[in-house]
Amino acid sequence: MDNGFFIVIDGIDSSGSTTQTAKLGGKLIEKGIKVHLTMEPSQHPAGKLLREYLRNDSAPIATDALLFAADRVEHYHKEILPKLQEGFVVISDRYVESSIAYQSAQAQQHQEKENSPFKTMDMEWVKTINKFVPQPDLTFIIDIDPRVSLARKNPTIALEKFETVTFLDSVRKIYLERARSLNHIIVNGAKPVDEIANIIMNTFSNMISLEE
Ligand code: TMP
Repeated sequence: MDNGFFIVIDGIDSSGSTTQTAKLGGKLIEKGIKVHLTMEPSQHPAGKLLREYLRNDSAPIATDALLFAADRVEHYHKEILPKLQEGFVVISDRYVESSIAYQSAQAQQHQEKENSPFKTMDMEWVKTINKFVPQPDLTFIIDIDPRVSLARKNPTIALEKFETVTFLDSVRKIYLERARSLNHIIVNGAKPVDEIANIIMNTFSNMISLEE
């Protein structure tokens, strides 16, 4: 492959997107393809700040949305784009769909609150602040019931602020509605890990006519 290709694997917490990003990367490297694996929140400064915010509930929801969008601008323009220009297949664990799903779900909660200063925050605004980066070439949404995904978590590690079934149910709904309207590939996250990895690999291979 001479031209870069940008793949995103997204989904609710513990859907398996991190595992599948690594699996796809491994399979492509075996085929001699240049691969760059990355994730959001990124390793850039705003991403590091976000990791801290995720451990406590203190950030106002608009701060979350703006920081995720700011991190993405830096992530795309300083890291993803240069790698694509060098001909890498870039695979990101999470990207814009995460913000649309999570931050719109946060906004929905505030639209119902009488005195919230964030009543006017909605999906359109989340889309607007994410307009500084382009869409990927291919997006996979790993779909799973939050009851199943959260049960997979190591019980000794504290949950982050978005990890509740009720909240993730709303996030999941938005991911699925968007995926259906934008033709993202929805993959059943309840299937065995290797089966999911094969589905993702085959979809990508067919799309770029990669030889088996
Ligand atoms: P992780 O669990 O994949 O490390 O992601 C961290 C958390 O951040 C996860 O709960 C999803 C959330 N998140 C957003 O709310 N918006 C975003 O734009 C991104 C990238 C992540």
